[in-house]
Amino acid sequence: MAMQARLAGKRALITGGGAGLGAQMARRFHEEGAEVLVNDLHLETAEAVAKEVGGSALAADVSDSGAVGAMFERIGSEFGRLDVLVNNAGIGVEGNPELTKNFNQRLARQAEEAMSGGPIETHLDFTVELSDEDWLRMLAVHLNGTFFCSREALKLMNPQNSGCIINLGSIMGTAGGAGLAHYCAAKGGILAFTRSLAREVVSRGIRVNALAPGFIETAMTSSLVEARPLIEGATPMGRLGEPDDIAWAAVYLASDEAKFVTGQTLSPNGGYHMSQ
Ligand SMILES: NC(=O)c1ccc[n+]([C@@H]2O[C@H](COP(=O)([O-])OP(=O)(O)OC[C@H]3O[C@@H](n4cnc5c(N)ncnc54)[C@H](O)[C@@H]3O)[C@@H](O)[C@H]2O)c1
Repeated sequence: MAMQARLAGKRALITGGGAGLGAQMARRFHEEGAEVLVNDLHLETAEAVAKEVGGSALAADVSDSGAVGAMFERIGSEFGRLDVLVNNAGIGVEGNPELTKNFNQRLARQAEEAMSGGPIETHLDFTVELSDEDWLRMLAVHLNGTFFCSREALKLMNPQNSGCIINLGSIMGTAGGAGLAHYCAAKGGILAFTRSLAREVVSRGIRVNALAPGFIETAMTSSLVEARPLIEGATPMGRLGEPDDIAWAAVYLASDEAKFVTGQTLSPNGGYHMSQ
């Protein structure tokens, strides 16, 4: 018997869907029968993936409340209902070359000192050097963006009394990561936001869950050069994951197969961080 497409009849918005994990989710969602709306910062980036999956492109900076409001107004008027929101848009430290270089070099040097029996003379000293601008931008994209998009999506989902929100956390949100305090704080906040919202909207038949990926091969992790062997060494599977490892988890959470799943964090991570 032919298998039913798992997302047939569902319309999904994926933020930051123009690259990396979001783009792969868009492909798998499309294969599973969903109509996909692809958001990204720039229209051309979103359009390339939207074209691939026969969906629609929507440009908006998720950290901009006004731009998010306008995007959802368009979704409401042009498309009507929304079944799935994936809050995936995000940034790492790759946009800051100086910080990235220091991050790699200091981590690698400190690990060498530790492996050769010490003493540890290289200190990471990232938080003490972190600018207001870098801190605020990180929280704005991840945490504000997740809130702004969820709030606007609920304006469509509440009257439907159905829907599903998937937020991108990270293992960094629970395990922590030296030199990434701003990223980890944002991701930890997203995990707490997920649980709170899940309790709040359960009576409306809306499910809210998080994905907490381990290290996955995308543009975001391509800047981890000297730090890469350390990450592989700390991962029981000995390697980084593939975007599909996250895309399939998103398909599951978005599907009716996950109808009893809410407030959860699903973490494909190669064993880097084990829980429950
Ligand atoms: N790659 C990993 O190892 C990893 C691990 C854990 C969590 N994550 C999370 O997964 C999500 C996707 O990461 P990725 O690795 O695919 O990154 P990526 O850099 O490959 O893609 C991110 C996409 O988000 C878009 N984007 C960035 N800021 C935006 C904004 N303000 N508004 C709209 N779009 C914006 C970018 O243009 C890009 O297309 C992020 O939230 C990231 O923190 C990634």
